[in-house]
Amino acid sequence: MNSHVDSVSSPHEPLDRIPRVLLADIPTPVQEVPRLARTVGLTSLFIKRDDQTGLAMGGNKARKLEYDFAEILKQGSDVVLTVGGTQSNHAVMTAAAARRKGLDVKIVLGGPGFTEYQGNLLLDLLLGAEIRYLKNNDRNEDLASAMEEWAEELRREGRRPYTLPVGGSTGIGALGYVRAMRELAAQIRPGPSQIVLAVGSCGTFAGAILGARLYMPEARVIGISVSRSSTEIARRTLEIVTESAGILQCDFTLTAAEIESYDCYHQEYGVPTDSGREAILSCARLEGILLDPVYTGKSMAGLLDLARRRILNPALPTVFVHTGGLPILFAFERSLRDLARLTTISSTTRRESE
Ligand SMILES: Cc1ncc(COP(=O)(O)O)c(C=O)c1O
Repeated sequence: MNSHVDSVSSPHEPLDRIPRVLLADIPTPVQEVPRLARTVGLTSLFIKRDDQTGLAMGGNKARKLEYDFAEILKQGSDVVLTVGGTQSNHAVMTAAAARRKGLDVKIVLGGPGFTEYQGNLLLDLLLGAEIRYLKNNDRNEDLASAMEEWAEELRREGRRPYTLPVGGSTGIGALGYVRAMRELAAQIRPGPSQIVLAVGSCGTFAGAILGARLYMPEARVIGISVSRSSTEIARRTLEIVTESAGILQCDFTLTAAEIESYDCYHQEYGVPTDSGREAILSCARLEGILLDPVYTGKSMAGLLDLARRRILNPALPTVFVHTGGLPILFAFERSLRDLARLTTISSTTRRESE
């Protein structure tokens, strides 16, 4: 093993034999949210607080980056490149991880123009990530080819670049969520039966599906899309799961039909929805937990709707994985402040018995 890799290993499990570097504050807490559960008739609802993984204000990507950075250090790279939308959480967390390991970082961002360095853009700046911007273009293929061109330039200058794909969603990165499911299985007894989370580039979902199958075989893992169609999600998730299972050398069969995701809780990637904004307010005012308008607000809106429609079984323990993204809140001040001012959702008017 490379001496740079401060790996945690216990030789008993294949998962512990894969090198990782320590970047996330884990295990993250699990919090019960009884008032929110009651609004939709769920008996027990918990939030797995992966917004508290610590790295650059927390989020799901810290777990994936632990595995990616083991590979980056093993290859002796001196500069990490990645891609994302303007408010990419993955880009910020990659920049923070690179800095924590003493590496340089360059990011290709794309999307609608911006006038202020708010939210994650400000964090990119503070972390000293060099940014190239594709204005009005967030097509993954274009971002990826701009990154490859930049990496080529760096190679010609004698640098050793490492390129991380969108969302860090690779078979190796997804192992972070296999590990998260092992962690969760030990935190809730009996184990959770329904696990709901946001799906973007599919790595978190893929890892959660594989991890649940290994450590909580009875659990149903449900993805709420923030960008892709359910067909696309099934295709990409299956690819990543297969890659991760190969790395762990575990026997695992999964078909696209077994992948449960819903693509009706977003309209356009990055654009807040009414139900997402309402979920943000409900969660904040009933439980004191903050969500963001691009990922966790929409996925919580999905969970609440599925519970109301009894697509979730109300009697079974349900976990929402809070995947982070909170810096994005500050880039959406205008979209949230008026609704927040006008809406009254308060638990302080009721006496709570719990
Ligand atoms: C806060 C947050 N939640 C969820 C996701 C979705 O994760 P994945 O891209 O692994 O599907 C992302 C991805 O960028 C994210 O930033």
